[in-house]
Amino acid sequence: MSKPKSVWEEFFTGKRSGGHRSSAEEFISKEAREKLFHLDGGKTLLDFGCGAGELLVYYALEYERLVGADFSESMLDEASKRIRARKCENITLILADDKTVWEKLDFSFDRITAAGVIQYLTYEEVDNFISNASEHLNKGGKIVLFDLLDPRLYPLWKIGYFSRNFGCRTLFCKIGFEAFTVVSASLKNRPRDILGYAHKPCTIEKIANKHGFKMEYVQSMYYEYKYHAIMSRE
Ligand SMILES: C[S@@+](CC[C@H](N)C(=O)[O-])C[C@H]1O[C@@H](n2cnc3c(N)ncnc32)[C@H](O)[C@@H]1O
Repeated sequence: MSKPKSVWEEFFTGKRSGGHRSSAEEFISKEAREKLFHLDGGKTLLDFGCGAGELLVYYALEYERLVGADFSESMLDEASKRIRARKCENITLILADDKTVWEKLDFSFDRITAAGVIQYLTYEEVDNFISNASEHLNKGGKIVLFDLLDPRLYPLWKIGYFSRNFGCRTLFCKIGFEAFTVVSASLKNRPRDILGYAHKPCTIEKIANKHGFKMEYVQSMYYEYKYHAIMSRE
């Protein structure tokens, strides 16, 4: 009997894009360039929660061997099409979640990354993820987690504070919309917030330190309410 799907696995069933601010290739290529800057070298890369491979195909231009892992079949289906279209022969895709991915890997990596994924993991799951990742990391390797929700800035984004036309009208519309979303999600027994958990930077840093990493905090360039956590060995 197959195991029941988690709330988030259910949520990503049938989804076909990573939900970037814009799906225009010009925007994604800029986002990928920012990420490649922070990934900062290495030859092998694991992109955990690779989704439709929107960033992965750009990473493939700079790495020798790459693995993309995701628990959503539809996302991997899209990734596979994108990889074929771009003729990226250096990428392998794996259907797996944060618990099963490790046993499916047959080599270790210079970089282990995840973009917009950590918010779907609880504190304990992040802890286990870093612990497992550290065992699959080559000497001098880095774990680079992109676009975590910053709980200090996320509420401001939700009320429209970062929008160019922020004012009382935007504020009331956003609050109304939020109230509607919360009520309708609880009536349908769905996650209240499709963006998942917001982990404080200091919480993520504590986990990094526990596993022998130092963590650099970097503000996300394209998402005002998100941050990157770059972990390397002390
Ligand atoms: C917001 S999308 C980002 C996709 C991709 N990283 C990007 O930036 O385009 C999050 C992805 O993480 C995947 N995901 C979330 N939690 C996961 C888990 N526990 N195990 C595997 N994949 C997961 C989802 O299926 C989805 O494809």
